[in-house]
Amino acid sequence: MEKFKFIDLFSGIGGFHQAMEQLGGKCVFASEIDKFCNAQYERNYGMSSDINIREVKETDIPEHEVLCAGFPCQAFSKAGKQAGLEDKTRGTLFFEIVRILKHHHTPYIVLENVRNLVSHDNGNTWRIIQESLRELGYRTTKDPLILSPHYFGIPQIRERVIILGKYDPENIDEPLNVDFGKYKAKEANSIYDVLDEDESDDSYRISEYEEMVLTAWDEFYQGINLKVIGFPVWADYFKYKGSLEGLPDWKAGFIKKNVKLYEENKEFIDSWLKKYKNLKGFTATHHKFEWQCGENISSIWEGVIQFRPSGIRVKMPNNFQALVAMVQIPVIGKYKRRLSVKEAARLQSFPVDNTEKPFLPDDNRQQAYKQFGNSVNVEVIRRAAEALFKSE
Ligand SMILES: C[S@@+](CC[C@H](N)C(=O)[O-])C[C@H]1O[C@@H](n2cnc3c(N)ncnc32)[C@H](O)[C@@H]1O
Repeated sequence: MEKFKFIDLFSGIGGFHQAMEQLGGKCVFASEIDKFCNAQYERNYGMSSDINIREVKETDIPEHEVLCAGFPCQAFSKAGKQAGLEDKTRGTLFFEIVRILKHHHTPYIVLENVRNLVSHDNGNTWRIIQESLRELGYRTTKDPLILSPHYFGIPQIRERVIILGKYDPENIDEPLNVDFGKYKAKEANSIYDVLDEDESDDSYRISEYEEMVLTAWDEFYQGINLKVIGFPVWADYFKYKGSLEGLPDWKAGFIKKNVKLYEENKEFIDSWLKKYKNLKGFTATHHKFEWQCGENISSIWEGVIQFRPSGIRVKMPNNFQALVAMVQIPVIGKYKRRLSVKEAARLQSFPVDNTEKPFLPDDNRQQAYKQFGNSVNVEVIRRAAEALFKSE
């Protein structure tokens, strides 16, 4: 398509907006109820998105060729078999999409959701969405389309289901064929593609305490006889003498492995524990350590580190895990600092480096991370929409 108009529902900070503009689209309507996102939308695109979609009449929405929506996932009603799809979806945010499509017969739709939308509510949610789109006259792909930035060389693993639809009631039985070529192997990516070597803002640096804890665990990793640790290390269980009875199998198994690890490395671990005063100054979750790098790297400082409730996790520097709202921001071992807001933007393919029209993230750092975590990856949507427009 050359030039087209699109609408951006549940628009957040405009991940779809970015992608559609890159393909020649012009936004004619946006809807979002989060005030912080509204402010960023206005600032970046010069238009208001401050509209609750539940309060807009479909007849008041301008004509458009593409409807975009990363809609929140909700369960549909279990009303009896004879109840129509409209009744089953009523009250949900998906229903808002349905009523707009029913009126506008929008030629193309691009919807995005979490991967487990497909299995949500025992498959009921997915089935009702597919049936509703079909009833509205949309052809969709035969199988759920799962895409992730890492398929396209962007170092973030974020698998999402993308629903592409083409209004074509005459050929409703023909599945939509889309082609993305060959996906890049996950191992071939590198986080350094999106990272700044020099980050002058010191507030991203890890704290002295965090550096001490990571140094301790790195010494631990260097000192033990195992290089591939296939289980979580739980320092509090090294000397466990209690019973394993009544514990779930997985837990009993991990405890046994920790006891064995300790016994095989007793001399080293005892001196390590002594040096770090039995980890007394460590927060409880920092007594636990997960090494998920096999033998591919040889130090914590070469990995990506996450301080999680389940412990300190180290992963390979190929990809970041999905940036999601409000979780701990990953630490880049090599730089001893957290991922910056600008780097988070690059992980979601927002054009923060564009010299003519750069995307401006929220000045409030926590808001900015949250907004990128909630957003779609721009490149994934751009590729998906491009494939849809070319589809047969
Ligand atoms: C997963 S986010 C979508 C983010 C967006 N696609 C982006 O790229 O930034 C879903 C959004 O739906 C918004 N939302 C929820 N209920 C809404 C409503 N009734 N009207 C408009 N937006 C709503 C939420 O505030 C949230 O920001």
